[in-house]
Amino acid sequence: MCGIFGMIGANAVANTLQALKYLEYRGYDSAGIAAKQADGIRIYKSEGRIHNLEKLLKNSVENNADSSFSGTSGAGYVESEIAIGHTRWATHGAVTTANAHPFYSPDGNFAVVHNGIIENYLALKKQFTSRGAVFTSETDSETVAYLLQNNYNGNTLQAVCATAKSLVGAFAIAVTTTYDNSLYAIKNKSPLVIGVSDVGVYLCSDIRCVSHWATKVAVTPDNTVVVVGKEGVRFYDFEGKPITVRFFTTDAAEEMEQVDGDFMLKEIFEIPEKIRLTQEGYFKNGGFGVEPERVRNISRIYLIGCGTAYNSGLQIAAVARKFLDVDVLPVIASEFIYDNYPVDGNTLAFFISQSGETADTIRAAENFNSLGGYSYAVTNTKASSLCFACKKVAYIYAGGEFAVASTKAYNCQLVTLLLLTLDVGRIRGTVSNEQYASVLRALTGIPSVIEEVLSHSYEISRIAETVKDSSAVFYIGRTTDYPTACEGSLKLKEISYIHSEAYPAGELKHGTLALMEENVTVVAITDGTLSDKMASSINEVATRGAKVISVSPQTFPNALSVTLPKVNTLLYGIVSVVPLQLLAYYVAKRLGRDVDKPRNLAKSVTVE
Ligand code: F6R
Repeated sequence: MCGIFGMIGANAVANTLQALKYLEYRGYDSAGIAAKQADGIRIYKSEGRIHNLEKLLKNSVENNADSSFSGTSGAGYVESEIAIGHTRWATHGAVTTANAHPFYSPDGNFAVVHNGIIENYLALKKQFTSRGAVFTSETDSETVAYLLQNNYNGNTLQAVCATAKSLVGAFAIAVTTTYDNSLYAIKNKSPLVIGVSDVGVYLCSDIRCVSHWATKVAVTPDNTVVVVGKEGVRFYDFEGKPITVRFFTTDAAEEMEQVDGDFMLKEIFEIPEKIRLTQEGYFKNGGFGVEPERVRNISRIYLIGCGTAYNSGLQIAAVARKFLDVDVLPVIASEFIYDNYPVDGNTLAFFISQSGETADTIRAAENFNSLGGYSYAVTNTKASSLCFACKKVAYIYAGGEFAVASTKAYNCQLVTLLLLTLDVGRIRGTVSNEQYASVLRALTGIPSVIEEVLSHSYEISRIAETVKDSSAVFYIGRTTDYPTACEGSLKLKEISYIHSEAYPAGELKHGTLALMEENVTVVAITDGTLSDKMASSINEVATRGAKVISVSPQTFPNALSVTLPKVNTLLYGIVSVVPLQLLAYYVAKRLGRDVDKPRNLAKSVTVE
């Protein structure tokens, strides 16, 4: 949800552009770069994908439009030793070049980029418009540039601190100025990582991205102003008082690889390998750190997340209810924040997030902690904000996930949460050593089972042809199959834009059957345990004209079958979701969608 990057060092523009390509998963409505030059700050920005910005940078040099620049890079565009950049997921104002970041202050002495939401921007804007100012954009972010100019009185740090104090909301802001050769940043509730290396200093929304250059990183705490200069990095509170923030070495670097095809398909095919890594991680570390003294007396477990991460909680709650003796409740993070779920010292919650930066999930964890609960982050991203918001962390081993639609992270979340809840069960005596050993044995075989499923991907691709013109697609399942239905449905709607919903199969007859007609597809998922009931549901929708696809170890007379190998029912969801991920992918491809960057979405949703 918007990515920012800033750098001081050689080839700052080329590196910023490279970083923006990496950060594009955070938003791809527009992109822009501000490059500091001897005679002022130059801003380049364009609507759409990063390659538009790259073209703009190249054209501006080729057309000699910027002959005043001090130099051009080997890459053929303007260079600078100080640059900031932004990739946008639109919140305030349409997708236009005018609304693209960076923004100048009216006098051109500051340029800013912003990730987050400035909640009091209308009041701030009014202060300036009442004095005759005319804003160039509809964004909340442009107000920051106005504030900086207004607050500048010969001391940039003071101007930045004064600006920070007047902002309400979530923000990671990078500032470049003509007044000196430092970069400035303001951080509250949106992620901001600072990196250093022998050749440069960096600020960035994403630890994996900055670790590509930096050898040491620091995660900026909330309510902090950062000054990044050639001579080093300094941190201050909003009053301008120096504070200490620890740097650490990082192994979070992720190759900024290019793929020939789509990331989504590549990531689906990585699922077996990543599940193996997750299991190895569990064994190597002797578990994921469940503490016996913490879980012996618990009375309740929440599994909290958003979107796909929530669906993994929904799935493991259904699975763990089979072997745990405490309430296990999945909750959508944004609902948890504003509802009155009971929490006390005997409540444990797993906060699930691939990115570790989802604002709703972080806020939910903060609320939960303030009520005295014991919070546990389950995330794919080291040193992400969620890790700092929770008391314990379990990392999943999915590796960098670049397609906006989450796939392999979901399977790894399921494996991690299953192992965590099994450990809780062992400590509480509800899971015997034999049961535990038997599930682990079965889990070890899951990667090969998924490899087998993937080897039939062409069949799913053929089925996609029959699904692509559906007016709506319903996914149905019971108990542990219902969460899989939810995840299959979410995948399809987010990347194909076909209307889709998931239902507990038995619930259809209470209203939704009214929507069954020709051109509707129903995907029925069952591990085989309640197959008679599913057979009835299939008949009910088929007799009303819907086309049915079953995903099951068994076949059904009225359905086109995707036949899966039989696996332990506790593990079935880890396997049965794979054909649904493939189905969503192939349907979207057949409809000509941009599967890796679907409309109106961002990989990391850092606003509430
Ligand atoms: C769906 C998807 C989103 C995310 C959700 C939570 O494919 O990607 O629904 O799952 O925004 O994101 P994380 O897991 O990063 O908290």
